[in-house]
Amino acid sequence: MADNKITVAVIGASGYTGGEVIRLLLDHPGVELAFLSAERNAGVAVGAVHPWLRNHPAVAQLKFRPLDELEDVDIAFGCLPTGALPARLPIIAERAKRVLNLAGDFRLRDPQEIERHYPKTAQHPPLEDFAYFVPELSGGVPESRFINLPGCMAVATLYGLYPLFAENLAVDRVIVDAKTGSTGGGRGGSEPPAERSGNFRVHKLHGHRHTPEIHQALADFTGASMDLQFSTHSLDVPRGILVTGYARLRDGVRPLDVKRAYAKAYVNRPFVRVRPAPKAPQDFPMLKAVVGSNVAEVAISVRDGECVSVAALDNLIKGAAGQAIQTMNLISGFDEAAGLPRTAVSP
Ligand SMILES: NC(=O)c1ccc[n+]([C@@H]2O[C@H](COP(=O)([O-])OP(=O)(O)OC[C@H]3O[C@@H](n4cnc5c(N)ncnc54)[C@H](OP(=O)(O)O)[C@@H]3O)[C@@H](O)[C@H]2O)c1
Repeated sequence: MADNKITVAVIGASGYTGGEVIRLLLDHPGVELAFLSAERNAGVAVGAVHPWLRNHPAVAQLKFRPLDELEDVDIAFGCLPTGALPARLPIIAERAKRVLNLAGDFRLRDPQEIERHYPKTAQHPPLEDFAYFVPELSGGVPESRFINLPGCMAVATLYGLYPLFAENLAVDRVIVDAKTGSTGGGRGGSEPPAERSGNFRVHKLHGHRHTPEIHQALADFTGASMDLQFSTHSLDVPRGILVTGYARLRDGVRPLDVKRAYAKAYVNRPFVRVRPAPKAPQDFPMLKAVVGSNVAEVAISVRDGECVSVAALDNLIKGAAGQAIQTMNLISGFDEAAGLPRTAVSP
């Protein structure tokens, strides 16, 4: 530790989430960015790969390095594509005191679901269990050495649905419709920009890998199991996720009960904000209120026994890098909000 700062490595730092971890940590008061890895971009200057970072004075000194040069660090952020971490975990586990993994590799427990959705991971069982951690829902600070952060669309869905099931207000059939921006697919995304531009289309109507994650997490956090229809769509924006959930309330549940459940679930949580009494369209969660920030917005509308919930967040921040830094802050004894933006970048 230099100058009482913790040392941090970003593994897969030349990608979108890795770049966002760097951007947010450059001005974090308690962190030294000690090591940044890349594969094809090893040896290249950080400012050349992430031009949006090049004007920070510290960035002129930073280069991506191959993973086998990793030195001892306090925390490693895993920002590798799904399936790439397991084979590289031994070296990371040897050199990092704690690992915060943003990729999906070790989120699921059911071997069949792992085989189906993360086949490369299934060949490499983890060295130790990874704790699945959502700061606002897991309760307490995780003690595990290895922590897996949630998927971006999964966590937006969890924020939108959690209070309904924590308070047993809804019946167990839920429909969720998630819309996501193009950075959700990473820097290596295969869709040509000209085909995404001006379009709005289906991404996956059935079988998305975040479906078992939502089932598992909601069961862990609330004890509820449900019949979930989860579908995803591709938006023509670089960043942002907006998720709409449709649930039928149990007999006798009043709108006030639902409102209280949402207020209670996120009271004193700086990064999940419930929109009070939304009426006009702009009162509801929207991308322009969250993109650029570590905030997830949540709102509900209840009528005739139906609850429609809406949640929005920035997939690269509250859905990835910011969530991981919030977790780092909690496990390292920093202020939970250190280095994390609360306001959006707009218009
Ligand atoms: N994007 C999101 O919104 C989001 C949200 C939540 C979680 N996640 C998860 O976070 C992880 C990283 O996502 P991302 O969007 O940052 O991906 P990305 O933009 O594709 O970046 C991947 C990074 O890993 C390196 N890399 C590429 N292929 C590799 C390989 N075979 N072995 C080792 N390293 C390799 C790349 O290095 P080179 O540039 O040198 O090739 C790059 O640094 C993914 O697992 C993703 O599912 C993403």
